[in-house]
Amino acid sequence: MPHPPEYILGISAFYHDSAACLLRGDEIIAAASEERFTRKKGDPAFPERAVAFCLQEAGITSKDLGAVGFYDKPLLKFDRILETYFGVAPKGFKSFLLAGPLWIKDKLYIDQQVRTALGYEGPVLYAEHHESHAASAFFPSPFEEAAILTMDGVGEWATATIGVGRGNDIEIVKELHWPDSLGLLYSAITYYTGFKVNSGEYKVMGLAPYGEPKYVDLMLKELMDLREDGSFTLNQKYFNYLAGLTMTSEAFNELFGGPPREPETNLTQKEMDLARSVQEVTEEVMMRMARTAHRETGLDNLCLAGGVALNCVGNGKLLREGPFKRLWIQPASGDAGGALGVAQLIAYRHFGRRRTVVPCKDSMKGAYLGPEYRPEAIEAFLKEQGATYTRLEPAELRSQVAQLLADEKIVGWFNGRMEFGPRALGARSILGDPRSPRMQAQMNLKIKFREGFRPFAPSVLRERVADYFEMDCDSPYMLLVAPVKRERQIPMTALQRSLWGIEQLNVPRSDIPAVTHIDYSARVQTVTRETNPDYYDLIAEFERITGCAVLVNTSFNVRGEPIVCSPEDAYRCFMRTHIDCLVLGPFLLTKTAQPEWEETANWKQEFQLD
Ligand SMILES: [Fe+2]
Repeated sequence: MPHPPEYILGISAFYHDSAACLLRGDEIIAAASEERFTRKKGDPAFPERAVAFCLQEAGITSKDLGAVGFYDKPLLKFDRILETYFGVAPKGFKSFLLAGPLWIKDKLYIDQQVRTALGYEGPVLYAEHHESHAASAFFPSPFEEAAILTMDGVGEWATATIGVGRGNDIEIVKELHWPDSLGLLYSAITYYTGFKVNSGEYKVMGLAPYGEPKYVDLMLKELMDLREDGSFTLNQKYFNYLAGLTMTSEAFNELFGGPPREPETNLTQKEMDLARSVQEVTEEVMMRMARTAHRETGLDNLCLAGGVALNCVGNGKLLREGPFKRLWIQPASGDAGGALGVAQLIAYRHFGRRRTVVPCKDSMKGAYLGPEYRPEAIEAFLKEQGATYTRLEPAELRSQVAQLLADEKIVGWFNGRMEFGPRALGARSILGDPRSPRMQAQMNLKIKFREGFRPFAPSVLRERVADYFEMDCDSPYMLLVAPVKRERQIPMTALQRSLWGIEQLNVPRSDIPAVTHIDYSARVQTVTRETNPDYYDLIAEFERITGCAVLVNTSFNVRGEPIVCSPEDAYRCFMRTHIDCLVLGPFLLTKTAQPEWEETANWKQEFQLD
């Protein structure tokens, strides 16, 4: 076996959410999605800027790389595309014409693309899509041994896999094949309920608690044949993604009584019931697959990755009711995480590097793997902008920001290295007071310009989590949902219960209403001093003033925009929205003190805002 090189670069690209990740030995040095730099949401282009950031972070050039890994095997995918489109031709011809040139141009020449873009002459290695996901789930986990479950939208032939990780290797033991995909079923409902496929899935999940599981039986009877072990076959007559450019077919419309909802039209009870139903079906499949993984491996630890692993409601249920004792979920569960997975697969499997496992501590560094900006760089930008700001010592900054939050001000919080993965975890976050009954609607409508029903998530000090939620474990990546503690819940009156779906939103459900969902659940992030000292100290200071150890934490962006990366992105978002104050490293800015903001681009149109 060749000697393991010091630097390995992983790349994921060309499908959605391109990313790059750099390893130095056993350590994850840097990882970021291309969208954050190019400001195009889910940018699928070759991640040139993310790669450049990774190399810069390590202080190296592409000449120092010992290997470059690509998260997918393009030829395997091309096979599938051909069979799919030729298999259902001539119906599929139209979408083949659209997809074909892209696949041929980008995917078959990845090798060359990597070399040209990077000026790199060393080996380019490939993993299979699900191997990359499985590797990203297991290798950074705090487990020496674990079962692995990956569930995905579109991969190669496999759409869900069960595997096992031991020491420095992983093995896939069972696969579910395309086109029988849980991700695609969820996306089909996302499409049918009038949301955008590949990004609207969260909205469906957020909408689910407003509905009744009315369609579960119909889905299980007509749409799919679900088996005891969690594998299933989708009835293709209801889906159109094999042949057409829409997700669902005429037969599907007939089954559910009408065409898909037009995007941006009013939501009805039907969409809520569909959302609830597909969520329950998804949870049932996840649970059955988890039981199979447990049976097959006999292990007590489970690692999760792949797009479906971002279904935090399902994850929470898996942890509470499933057969595993411990659960670890890759925070960059989507395809971006594949860049990390393939790099680690190369290090551990290909080069046989020994993997160091620290019990109870994963190697993701809190997912703070992106760029950081020095105070001098931030100040140079603020000066150039003519912004009004104050530089404060950490203790003073903390105390002022905690007081602003306690006064119901909304604060943009830009601190340290940017998160890798779709969640803001206190490095690029917008913060608010969870006790305020007005906060949820205000943040949704005035800051994020998005649907009022979307729930917000709480950040809570790790040692205080059990005082607020029915859980007492780590959830550093906001990937577990738990009920708000029973004593804190406010039961609804009969009159309130009779309100229609979304109207119930305005009824406070607990003493932290801004983070309590309609069904009393919350998507919890636990914060420790060890991984994010500044954020931890801020929440602790907020607790000292108010007695509340929780903050509302939502990602620092508006609807349709990637999360902010640089001070410039943050300042722009601050000026465009009703965020009251902005913290950029050691600097504090208030909106009222800023000079007149002249918008250059027609940004509301750009992000399709109301
Ligand atoms: Fe994937």
